[in-house]
Order: sequence, then C-alpha cells, then structure tokens
Amino acid sequence: MAGKLEGRVAVVTGSSSGNGRAIAIALAREGAVLMCSDLNKSALKGGYEKDLEVDTDAVITQSGGRASFVAADASKASDVQNIIHCAVETYGRIDIMVNNAGVFTGLHSIIDETEEQYDFTMNVNAKGVWLGCKYAITQFMKQEPITTSTGAQLRGRIVNIASIGGLVGLALEPAYCASKGAVVNLTRELAIDFAPERINVNAICPGFLATAMVRSFLEQDDTNKLLHDLTPWPRVGEAQDVARAALFLASDDAEWMTGSMLTVDGAFTAR
Ligand SMILES: NC(=O)c1ccc[n+]([C@@H]2O[C@H](COP(=O)([O-])OP(=O)(O)OC[C@H]3O[C@@H](n4cnc5c(N)ncnc54)[C@H](O)[C@@H]3O)[C@@H](O)[C@H]2O)c1
Repeated sequence: MAGKLEGRVAVVTGSSSGNGRAIAIALAREGAVLMCSDLNKSALKGGYEKDLEVDTDAVITQSGGRASFVAADASKASDVQNIIHCAVETYGRIDIMVNNAGVFTGLHSIIDETEEQYDFTMNVNAKGVWLGCKYAITQFMKQEPITTSTGAQLRGRIVNIASIGGLVGLALEPAYCASKGAVVNLTRELAIDFAPERINVNAICPGFLATAMVRSFLEQDDTNKLLHDLTPWPRVGEAQDVARAALFLASDDAEWMTGSMLTVDGAFTAR
C-alpha cells in the first residue's frame, strides 16, 4: 500500500536530532522525499536516539527512502533560501516545510537573562520560523498545485514546531516563551493570508520531551521530578510523539486544518 505522503517533497530544519530527526524519519516512512537540514549533519551527543552515530539522511536511505542533507543556519536568510533552492534543484518542488530548528538557553529570570541570550533565542526560534515560512510560501506560490488522493488541490503545507511555552508562561523561560509566542501567532496570521491559496499553516505545541535539549533536566533528580510532576500523563514526551502529530499535519488528513495549535503535551495545558 502506498504511504500517506508518497512522492511528496518535505524539508525539515533541525533534522539531525530530537524532534526534527524523528519527524524526517516519520515522513520518509510514509513515502516522502526528504531534504534534511541542520547546522551540523551529526546528531547531538545528548540525544536519546539509539542510533545516534547514523545521520538522519542515512537512516532514511538505508531503509529504502530518498533523502539529502544541506547544512544551514535556520536563522540566516541566505541559508534558508539555499535549503529551498537545493530541495527544488534536487527534487523539483516542495510540498511540506517543517520549521523545527530551535534553541533553549536554560532557566533564568529576565533579570539574569542576557541580551545575547534573548537575541540568540529570538533569532533561531522566531526569525528562523519566519524565514522558513517566507521562503517555503514563496516557492509554493511559484509551483502548480498538485491533486491529492481526495481530489483536493494542494499548494503546500507548513508545520511549525512551537511549544507549550507559546501558549502559556513557563517559569524562568522569558525569551523562549516570547519566541514561541511569536511562532504561534505567526502561524495564525499566515494561515489567514494563505488559506485562499490552499496553503496549510499549523503549529505543534509540545510539552516536556526527552531530547538533548532537556537532558540536563532529566538527569537531575529534582528537575526530573519537577518535569514529571508538571506533566499529568505518567511519562514525559518523546520525539516520536511530536513526529506522529507532524505526520498528521503534513498529510491529506489535515486538508481543512489550518491556523491550528496542536498540543502534544500529556495534558500540561489542559489544567
Ligand atoms: N524538547 C522539548 O521538551 C521541547 C518542547 C517543546 C518544543 N520543543 C521544540 O522542538 C524543536 C526541536 O527541539 P529538540 O528538543 O529536538 O531539540 P534538540 O536540541 O534535541 O535538537 C535541535 C536540533 O536543531 C538544530 N539547530 C539548532 N539551532 C539551529 C539553527 N540555527 N539552524 C539549524 N539547526 C539548528 C540542532 O543542531 C539540533 O540538531 C525546537 O523548536 C524546540 O524549541 C522542544
């Protein structure tokens, strides 16, 4: 049976580790052709993947899929333009853009947070998603829509990785929450502008996940207990939980979903 994304071309930023890696592999498993992109080709050593030494594009090609890698800083316009250029040069078009690359500089109040930490966080998390949306949508508008299995016309789908920190305040994460709030409302704004063009723009708001980003908290007893206590579900999340939601939003099953914030958080925001 054909996969849900057979032949669709997908770009994922921050694809070497954690959520980005799990998303790229999940999309490829459903038949998508992947342009992987990250600052570094190798996975972060702090990740929870069992096959950290195998790069994401190699995981995909070794399972019979198609994937390439382009190094890019998601916060730099020329790099993001180049990701889109490489995807179109290699595969002819883009159908799915996953803006996942993100950073977190640790817990501190605004009194101690430095201007450099604020600029760094906003540049990658907020401007990076803005750039990814800008250049993906520019490409979507240049290409002819494709007809999906349900007969619908599809121009392109965007999945932005925000956070519960874009929906509610998370203690001691001022710049991170500001950056993710920007992703949430940019997603809503673009959904309105490009609904007439049948471009879906949605975001996923994950709760606490076991990835390299959070390893230092999960390794300490007190912060590990705190993350578990804050999460009503009896475990913290995994990159796979986010990947399954991204697959849904990238697929034809989400044809009439746009401007949505999909929480994947073990009920954190349901309190
Ligand atoms: N881990 C969590 O608990 C959690 C929760 C909510 C949201 N998120 C979000 O999910 C996304 C992925 O996080 P993760 O947990 O997988 O983190 P991670 O640190 O495990 O992986 C992030 C990946 O992004 C890459 N990256 C960082 N800066 C980049 C840049 N400027 N350009 C290109 N690539 C860059 C890194 O090299 C790495 O491969 C982020 O947007 C993060 O904010 C994570």
